[in-house]
Amino acid sequence: MTRVFVSRALPGDGLTRLQESFDVEVWPLADPPSPDDLRKAAVEADGLLTMLPDRVDSALFDASPKLKIVSNLAVGYDNIDIAAANQRGVLVTNTPGVLTEAVADLTLALILAFSRRIVEDDRLVHEGEWRAWNPTFLLGRDLSGATLGIVGLGSIGLEVARRARGFGMRVLYASRSPKPKAENELAVESRDLLDLIAESDFLSLHLPLLPETRGLIGRRELGLMKPDAVLINTARGPILDQAALVDALSERQIGGAALDVFESEPVSADDPLLKLDNVLVAPH
Ligand code: GLV
Repeated sequence: MTRVFVSRALPGDGLTRLQESFDVEVWPLADPPSPDDLRKAAVEADGLLTMLPDRVDSALFDASPKLKIVSNLAVGYDNIDIAAANQRGVLVTNTPGVLTEAVADLTLALILAFSRRIVEDDRLVHEGEWRAWNPTFLLGRDLSGATLGIVGLGSIGLEVARRARGFGMRVLYASRSPKPKAENELAVESRDLLDLIAESDFLSLHLPLLPETRGLIGRRELGLMKPDAVLINTARGPILDQAALVDALSERQIGGAALDVFESEPVSADDPLLKLDNVLVAPH
């Protein structure tokens, strides 16, 4: 019977449906499989159902000669060496579109949390620090009229633009190809990446991780941002040079950052990023 290895317990009836047709083995532990565990588990497998943190590389392909398909339960597939899969004729699939709305919502939630200082508000009230009413106490910042720069106007970027327009933001975008339909429908305007960075009050990344997008936002780009601008990354950590970001945030060169993704995940509790008060974080 065809053997399928699933690298995490699946929610809902996903597993039952697989089990109806295949001999399914599910990774039994709460901690995810290490690269070594995954390789060992894949030795006899015809198919793998993997998640983003699972590295599927040539070493794994070499160790699993029967492998015909790797199904990645994710939109991105930067964890899979596609060239190595192609060389061996292994099919790779992903789940495009499943979280377009969710990521767009999260991006707006991060922007709003930053502009309305929600995390500070909550902490302060919980800690009994709200002592009096004061007209300038914890003042936020209006989104209406502020400029949002979207790097990458694919399906997620587009949904972020739609939401931001609803909040009265001016929306600019940088993209490999022009998007006339979005420009007409949403009144978004195209800019070169560097101009976009310099004009934005909020700069949000919506690109896949590819060799050409790795490190796209580094010291030079951070140096172009407005001193009170906020960078939002809900795409992939390595698109951003994290060490350069820590420096820019520590030196108050930019207003802040809201991050759902990191160079290495889960981000370590002693990462210098987490020592900063102008960064808002979420666990991908
Ligand atoms: C999540 O980041 C995904 O790519 O599915």
